[in-house]
Order: sequence, then structure tokens, then C-alpha cells
Amino acid sequence: MGKAPLLEMKNIKKDFFGNQVLTDINLTLHEGEVVGLVGENGAGKSTLMKILFGADVIRETGGYSGDILINSEKVDFQSPFDAIAAGVGMVHQEFSLIPGFTATENILLNRESKKKSVLSQLFGERMDTLDRPQMDTKAEDSIRKMNVDIDKDMRISKMPVGHRQFTEIARELSKDQLKLLILDEPTAVLTEKEAEALLESIRGMAKRGIAVIFITHRLNEILAVCDKVVTMRDGYVVNESPAKETSVKEITRWMVGREVSGGSAAEKIEDKGADKRTILSIKKLWVDMPGETVRNVNLDVREGEILGIGGLAGQGKLGIPNGIMGLCQAGGQVTFDGQEVDLNNPRKCLDSNFAFVSEDRRGVGLLLDESLEWNISFPAMQVQDKFLKKYFGGLIKWRDDAAIKEVTDKYIDELKIKCRSSKQKAKELSGGNQQKVCLAKAFALEPKLLFVSEPTRGIDVGAKSLVLQALKNSTRKRMLQ
Ligand SMILES: Nc1ncnc2c1ncn2[C@@H]1O[C@H](COP(=O)(O)OP(=O)(O)O)[C@@H](O)[C@H]1O
Ligand SMILES: [Mg+2]
Repeated sequence: MGKAPLLEMKNIKKDFFGNQVLTDINLTLHEGEVVGLVGENGAGKSTLMKILFGADVIRETGGYSGDILINSEKVDFQSPFDAIAAGVGMVHQEFSLIPGFTATENILLNRESKKKSVLSQLFGERMDTLDRPQMDTKAEDSIRKMNVDIDKDMRISKMPVGHRQFTEIARELSKDQLKLLILDEPTAVLTEKEAEALLESIRGMAKRGIAVIFITHRLNEILAVCDKVVTMRDGYVVNESPAKETSVKEITRWMVGREVSGGSAAEKIEDKGADKRTILSIKKLWVDMPGETVRNVNLDVREGEILGIGGLAGQGKLGIPNGIMGLCQAGGQVTFDGQEVDLNNPRKCLDSNFAFVSEDRRGVGLLLDESLEWNISFPAMQVQDKFLKKYFGGLIKWRDDAAIKEVTDKYIDELKIKCRSSKQKAKELSGGNQQKVCLAKAFALEPKLLFVSEPTRGIDVGAKSLVLQALKNSTRKRMLQ
């Protein structure tokens, strides 16, 4: 490639409050090139991309050092608006859509096509009326570029999570000046088929000369679509290789710095299930969950069993836990341990010691401004009076800080949550580590029935096997009781 690179990042360094998270990062990207950026949770991928995108959080935490050049010119974006104007687009790991707006409205947010009306000629731009037909065409165009079937008129709040992700990508694609697109774990929430469609649209973008930085934990996707793979570990770039010359196994080794054994094939465990009784019985369950409607579902789960529910986005698999836990209107008959479960009553579910790790970790998962200690212990404290010191025969209860710290440290260790201390705020953790905190919170309840929705969404191979192992351990412990 004789042409000057589209993007050069040189010697980028960044610390958060003295904690060095990026050291001497160099990254070069040409027009139409697709780079896969990989690394374990907390390696620094999102931070590097936020620097490139001029994110507020970077400036608010003391900025960065090093140089960024676009088409050989030094840039220093003061905000994402500057980055967008320079042709950089970013799809975030967590959604940034407005739930009450339709897909079209979100795609064209702040850039709505306006029609000159008589009033606007008199009173200026504010009176321009929205040109709906033109907005529709633009939104349709960018949705078509992705080759997926999403309803441009549907409100975001009613959409399954995979479709929301596509809406975000469509928003970036609809910008005419787009030269470089950053995709931070876009496929984490997609089904296989949707992910395949996304890969296809990445190829299309590259053909049109758009450069793409693609972050994902699905390493096969990296090999399928990228020109080169850049691997980060603990804030360093540890390897850069052409995608053609490497393999999933090799990348995994660079990521974790050691061999990771085996894929996710089911481990053979002695089937004690046969003599275990049915503990949960679901009959004719219906759930009214937007985009995830459930009808007439019958399921039996035995004691100590882990039951997997699969399916495409929008087919109702998320509706089942949301319905049983009382978060969405539901009907039918659910019995647990011989007792009928009171549907539409979330408090009762908690009292019966059911727990739920939702797929929506930002929405209902975490208290982002609170510490890990508080996040992990709060539900158990509220629901089960755990981690409280009782005085005067229980008349006075006081937080047991030592017990709270102990349980938090236990899960930090068990799930290898990357953090500075148990007092760190949840929002300061990387996405995958936040996901682990959500699980720890549920484990701390020692639930009798645990629903986990997409527990390994957006976490890396190393963490994935940890989380799955933790799930197995927690059920096995119960089976032995
Ligand atoms: N706003 C923040 N304040 C303090 N630390 C942060 C903040 N954002 C990220 N970090 C830390 O920076 C490191 C890199 O995180 P991140 O870039 O999100 O990793 P990745 O995207 O590779 O999983 C992590 O240790 C994380 O805890
Ligand atoms: Mg990240």
C-alpha cells in the first residue's frame, strides 16, 4: 500500500488516576482495511477506541499522551463531534440509543432531513418540518447496506437486543463522511445468523473504502473478516499479524499469555439427574415481553440441573426468565419445589430465593456509581438480611463491613474480576468485568433457582470458561447438599 495511512496512532499512553492502562500503543490503518483488535477484558481496547473517538471520559480523567494522525495530519479531538466531523464513527459496547424513538429516528438523530416550510422561511431553521419520506429512505438505505430485516418504524424499547445493535450500526453507516468505523464488540449480542450478516456488511464497507476497527471476542469472526489482527494484553500491544497467517489458538495464546484448553464442548459429568426430582415445572407459560413474546411454554427442570435455552433474538428465550421473575406480565402455571409461584410478583420471587442475571446489564444489572462491595452485597442484604450485624435480638441491624468485604473479595478472586479494590466503582470496570460483577451479585444470594441470560456475552475466552465453571460449581455445590 503506497498511499499514506488513513490513521496512525503513535505511542499512546493513558492512565486512570495513576493506574496505567495503555502503554506505548502504535496502530496504523489504511483505507478499506479491516483490523481486528482483540484482548482479554480489561486489556484496554475500549479505552484506546475512546481516545480515538474523542470521548468525554478520556478528557475528564486527565487526557492521554501520544499522537493521532488522520491522513498524515495530527488531530486532537475535543469531543466525539470533532471525531465524527473527521469521518470517525463508533458503535459502542453499550447501547446509546434513545429507547422511546423508532429505528429511523435514532439512525438520523440530530441529522434529520428538514424540509423548508413557509414558516421556516419567515422564522428560520427551527421551523423546518421533518421530511419524513426522506428520512425513511435514508434509514432504509443504511439498513439495506447491512442486509438485515429490522423494522425501521419500531421503537427501540420494543426491539430485541440484536436489532438494537444493528440500528446503531445503521446510524453510523448513514453518515456520508464516514471513513473509519469502530465496532466495539458489536456481535456480542447477535445470533449466529445476525453476526454473519454483520460480517458481510463489514466486507461491504471495506470494499467502499471504509476502514474498520473490529473488536470482538469471537475470534473466528476476526479471522473471517479482518486483514490484520492486533492483540492487546494489560495495556500493551503484544502482537500484530496478518489474519491469514494466524489461528484462533495462536491469538488466544497471545491474549492470555498462556495456553487455554479446549473449546466449549460439554464436559461429561456423571449423570445423577436420573434420580433427582423435578424441582421446577413450567406449564402453559405466556409472557408479554416486547419483542420476546412467549406462548404456551412447558418445561421441567430437575434439581441440580443446568438447562440451556437457545434460539434467535426475538424468539422468546429472554421472555421466560423475565416472565417468571415478575418483570413482565405473565400467566400460566409455574411450580417450584412443590409450591406454586406467584406470577407478576417480583418481590415474592426474591423471597423464594430466585435470582436473575439479566441480559440488560446496564439497565437493571448494576449500580454504576456504587462500589463493587455494595453491588455484590446489596441484594442479599436487602432480600435476605445477609451481611448485617444484629443487635438486641435483631431489633437493630447494622452493615457488617467486614463480611461485605470478605464476600466481595471472594468473588473478585473466584471470577478474576479485574479491579483496583473491592471499593472501586462499578462504572470504572471494563464491560466484561462488569458482567462478572452481575454474576457475583447473583451468586452472593446463593439462589435456589438462578436464571442467567447471556452470561458470557461480551467476555473473552479466558473469562468465558471461568464464568461457565463458576456456574457449574455453584449448581454442583447444591447437588451435594
Ligand atoms: N472510567 C474509568 N475509570 C477508571 N478506570 C477505567 C475506566 N474505564 C476503564 N478503566 C480501566 O481501564 C482498563 C481497561 O479497560 P477497557 O479499555 O474497558 O478494557 P477492554 O475494553 O479491553 O475490556 C481496565 O482495567 C478498566 O478497569
Ligand atoms: Mg471493552
